[in-house]
Amino acid sequence: MATLSFEPPRGMRDFYPEDMLWRNRVFDAWRQAASAFGFQPYDACVVESLELLQRKSGEEVSEQIYHFEDKSGRQLALRPEMTPTLARMIAARQGRLTFPVKWFAVAQCFRYERMTRGRKREHYQLNLDIIGEESVSAEIEVMAAAATALEKMGMPADAFRIHVNNRALLSELLDKSGIAAAHHPAVFLALDKRGKIPDEAIATLLREEGLDETAIAKTFELLAVETLDQAAEMAGADSPAIARLRELFTLAKVYGIEDRLLFDIAVIRGLSYYTGIVFEAFDTARKFRAIFGGGRYDNLLTTIGGDPTPAVGLGFGDVVVVEVLKDLLGETAAAERNGVAIGYMAPEQREAAMRLAKTLRDAGETVDLSLGKQKPKAFFSRANAGTCADAIYIGPDDVTRGTAKRKHLDTREETEIPLP
Ligand code: HAM
Repeated sequence: MATLSFEPPRGMRDFYPEDMLWRNRVFDAWRQAASAFGFQPYDACVVESLELLQRKSGEEVSEQIYHFEDKSGRQLALRPEMTPTLARMIAARQGRLTFPVKWFAVAQCFRYERMTRGRKREHYQLNLDIIGEESVSAEIEVMAAAATALEKMGMPADAFRIHVNNRALLSELLDKSGIAAAHHPAVFLALDKRGKIPDEAIATLLREEGLDETAIAKTFELLAVETLDQAAEMAGADSPAIARLRELFTLAKVYGIEDRLLFDIAVIRGLSYYTGIVFEAFDTARKFRAIFGGGRYDNLLTTIGGDPTPAVGLGFGDVVVVEVLKDLLGETAAAERNGVAIGYMAPEQREAAMRLAKTLRDAGETVDLSLGKQKPKAFFSRANAGTCADAIYIGPDDVTRGTAKRKHLDTREETEIPLP
């Protein structure tokens, strides 16, 4: 029989202890920031009905769904994202919830994607969503919460930028260019591919959508807009989309994050349910893919059969952010040492070591107790390679004296402690 591969299926992920250091750092920051902003945790099944996920079809994500039939013939899928599930859960309790609701989840998602840097077939995503709020107070709240999570992970404030646009602005501008509203969703999805496929391929998509050459040229011209003032000039003084963007930037000042936000007409988003402000965060050096992305999706609840309900949210994946953090802080930055390793020379010291471990654990310390006797060299080399900050090695003389030395592994400083 051929030997089995020890690798996980392509694109799926194993997390060894050193990977868990990074994962926990990210998850802890996500949960702390979400709670600090008053979001309530929720969770849901990883397996969804294929029909729900396909309701909002038309974009790449629905082509990337892992789907299967269960033993009763149900068409099911591993969720590629959390938003349709969230919409379903809200719709199920629409009459009973007090809006706006602010919910968060750390969701494992699966997408059969082409594997590139920052893209796996399995990832975890912080989802922060506010359902039932029309004003841009919702947008700024989710953006600020995500920015706070990044900072809690150790990302310097100048190392990332949240690029902001408004699909309603693009719609206004496309209207002015004579491109009918029915074409807008397809135009958005085509323009979102900019940078990922050649412009000529995007032009082909637009042609397939029925746009003529003049309309295609005008569409590309829109993407050359660089500032909000330029966009305002094109959209006109009374543009509601511009007014919303300006309000968002004003609120960003109040939140103290105005230097982390910038207007970027090229941010469109690859999901068709967004209706208003959309945003994506990138590392300032633009070496990596988007760290998080989201926007307003006021029609999703009705698309799945719920009551009309405004909504804003974002998805913040664990893959790209760890790559960015490693690049900025170093591969091993997550390995903060804490706790104490305890070892002993001979079976006669085992009980003394165990009693000490119990005393320290009762006092709330993390203790990695050796499970058998060890020579000092072996003990200290394991302790140095491990995650404990301190080490205590107990020999026969220590037990006789009733004390042992607690050694700080980095500074090599020693303090004498009593043995219980
Ligand atoms: P998304 O832009 O498709 O949005 O994904 C959000 C984030 O998830 C991305 O910025 C990235 O960090 C991460 N991500 C997505 N796909 C992968 C992948 N294959 N490998 C690694 N990381 C990935 C959504 O999913 C929306 N549902 C977000 C949202 C929530 N909008 C409103 N509420």
